[in-house]
Amino acid sequence: MKYIFLLTAVALFASSTRAASDPRECEVCMKVMTDIRESMQKDGLKDKPKIESAMGAHCSNEKLSAREKKICYYIDPIKRDVAQPFSLGMPVDRLCKRINKSNPEICGVKFPVKTENLEPQDLTKLRVKQLKSILLDRGVECKGCVEKEEFIKKVQETEHLAGSDEF
Ligand SMILES: *[C@@H]1O[C@H](CO)[C@@H](O)[C@H](O)[C@H]1NC(C)=O
Repeated sequence: MKYIFLLTAVALFASSTRAASDPRECEVCMKVMTDIRESMQKDGLKDKPKIESAMGAHCSNEKLSAREKKICYYIDPIKRDVAQPFSLGMPVDRLCKRINKSNPEICGVKFPVKTENLEPQDLTKLRVKQLKSILLDRGVECKGCVEKEEFIKKVQETEHLAGSDEF
């Protein structure tokens, strides 16, 4: 009896933590931070003014994708708050979660998901939650959708919106 209770508690805990973490959370921020770190000389990695100027240099690159520019736009006014944990060598996932506290939009920026090259059977493998997140990313709502097939159909129908990477 005791064991059954324990197992239920463990299962509940596991499912609640799974629901709380979206693997794509903070992904654009993490890419930007990784690229900035890689653009720097090793001996400057702990130097806050050097970090701030590396951020500025990276962010002035015209070739950045729209989502990366968005992160740049968010971190520009909080450069100091970023440079501090950055200078401690904090891993990018923790770093982004930390600066998401200064600007809670930061972790919500994700790369648009393109599904045009996926076979229909690949879409079938996704969970409804992932399909919903793809649609949310495109600003599309699947009104009245219940069955997975309905979400898949909507994802296929709105493929043209996936490329719209505007800021
Ligand atoms: C970022 O901050 C917002 C607002 O506080 C919060 O809802 C979200 O869960 C945070 N994201 C992460 C990954 O910490």
